[in-house]
Amino acid sequence: MHRRIAHAGLQKLVMTADQAASMIRPGMTVAMSGFTGAGYPKAVPQALAAQMETAHARGEEFQIKVLTGASTAPELDGVLAKAGGMELRLPYQSDPTMRKRINDGELEYIDIHLGHVAQYTWFGFYGKIDLAVIEVVGINEDGSLIPSSSVGNNKTWLEQADKVILEVNRQQPEAMDGMHDVYYGTALPPHRKPIMLVNPDDRIGEPYLRLDPEKVIAVVETDAPDRMTPFAAPDETSQQIAGHLLDFFDTEIKAGRLTDKLLPLQSGVGNIANAVLAGLSTAGYTGLTAYTEVIQDGMLHLIRDGVIRVASATSFSLSPAGIEEFNANIDFYRKRIILRTQEISNHPELIRRLGCIAMNGMIEADIYGNVNSTHVAGTSMMNGIGGSGDFARNGFLSAFMSPSTAKGGKISGIVPMAAHVDHTEHDTMLIITERGLADLRGLSPKQRARTIIEKCAHPDFQPLLQDYFDRASRDSLGKHTPHLLDESLAFHQRFVETGTSLPATAGL
Ligand code: COA
Repeated sequence: MHRRIAHAGLQKLVMTADQAASMIRPGMTVAMSGFTGAGYPKAVPQALAAQMETAHARGEEFQIKVLTGASTAPELDGVLAKAGGMELRLPYQSDPTMRKRINDGELEYIDIHLGHVAQYTWFGFYGKIDLAVIEVVGINEDGSLIPSSSVGNNKTWLEQADKVILEVNRQQPEAMDGMHDVYYGTALPPHRKPIMLVNPDDRIGEPYLRLDPEKVIAVVETDAPDRMTPFAAPDETSQQIAGHLLDFFDTEIKAGRLTDKLLPLQSGVGNIANAVLAGLSTAGYTGLTAYTEVIQDGMLHLIRDGVIRVASATSFSLSPAGIEEFNANIDFYRKRIILRTQEISNHPELIRRLGCIAMNGMIEADIYGNVNSTHVAGTSMMNGIGGSGDFARNGFLSAFMSPSTAKGGKISGIVPMAAHVDHTEHDTMLIITERGLADLRGLSPKQRARTIIEKCAHPDFQPLLQDYFDRASRDSLGKHTPHLLDESLAFHQRFVETGTSLPATAGL
């Protein structure tokens, strides 16, 4: 294993996860690697959680603040949440135990655009970073680090943290060496310079993370896989949503607003995103590009088949089958995939310059096109905004997709007023459900409402929404964006009270 640790000084710091974790003290701000279940530390957080549980059993307080790239896995977020070991977490999570703690009010959670986290850290908005715990593929002789299956915020964590613990994971293939592009040209305002990336496949940085070996207090060797959630085959609803988007691309190409190479694709994760990617694979496209956050199975297949010629991201999010495919053909993929820091993969200026096509999931949209990506019934956190805002506001196109109903038809995905807004009406161009696609470009609020209700709402909710809009158009104080304020959240209130937003009797 030591051949993965080529730096002589750092070899001497190899120790157990338990020993390394014992250097993490209550109250510390600890920045960890990890993005969408890839490249997160796998041993130290588990050892730390065990030490926290022991301390708690003795009646001692032991909590830390945890910053990452994005979501991690049960071995990090899961164990620390279960141990009650976090007082604060940012910026994105998807762990069920942690979600429960957040929604039970036991854990402070800050939801931030993923492209903002690094610069906010540099601005000093989160205070001092005491420690970074970073997974890497290997340590070079000069102390530079071969990044792992995600880059995320690791550059910033290594530079900003006082001390560093490294996990060197033998299961991450050494052949990933060379895939990464770590940009060191960022600066603080007013000294910022343009970032000279003009194509998704431009390399503007270095393959390795720089490290000050003096900061390292422990090196832990691990041999464990990433989270690797299996993907479900796209269901019929997802395929219908994907079909609407692909038809829309055809129309745009015929209208001359897009070419058959489209523009760099950004795709969220999940069933619908996978169905869109699967749909692209049979739609006859070749030589497309992706400038996105995450390489999921669907993206890998598109690269394999030549539909996508190059994909830039900050992380993988592969199933076991996806990992197998990647590892078996790593030399092929290394030439076609670039992993960057998330401040570059999600950079507003670059997304706007490249003209990305943003495709993301949502919890609900309201009739005017405001989108809620994060909060059930306006109060319970699902995952977080992720990178959806980075891409939606700055993309050439921004699509938000969801089934027209949730929870077996009990909840409408189209509501009179969104109970929480992540993406305003100004940032959403396409709302897509399995019923159809609402193209909101160039429409006024009332035109948007008519289009969304007609094209996207489920027939069980369509008459309710139409009735609401008609009465609001008649009775609302202002007629620009008509609302009946005492009724606008009735769908949500009914869901909270009865478990469904459908009324027991006719009427809203
Ligand atoms: N009310 C209540 N619950 C709802 C809901 C609604 N209107 N819409 C969806 N949900 C629930 C679903 O029932 C499901 O819950 P379950 O896991 O208990 O079954 C869950 O939300 C996920 O919904 P699903 O339909 O499976 O879609 P998804 O996996 O595509 O997730 C988001 C949808 C919005 C949660 C997800 O896209 C997300 O987290 N987005 C924000 C981050 C982001 O966009 N990242 C993209 C850049 S990588």
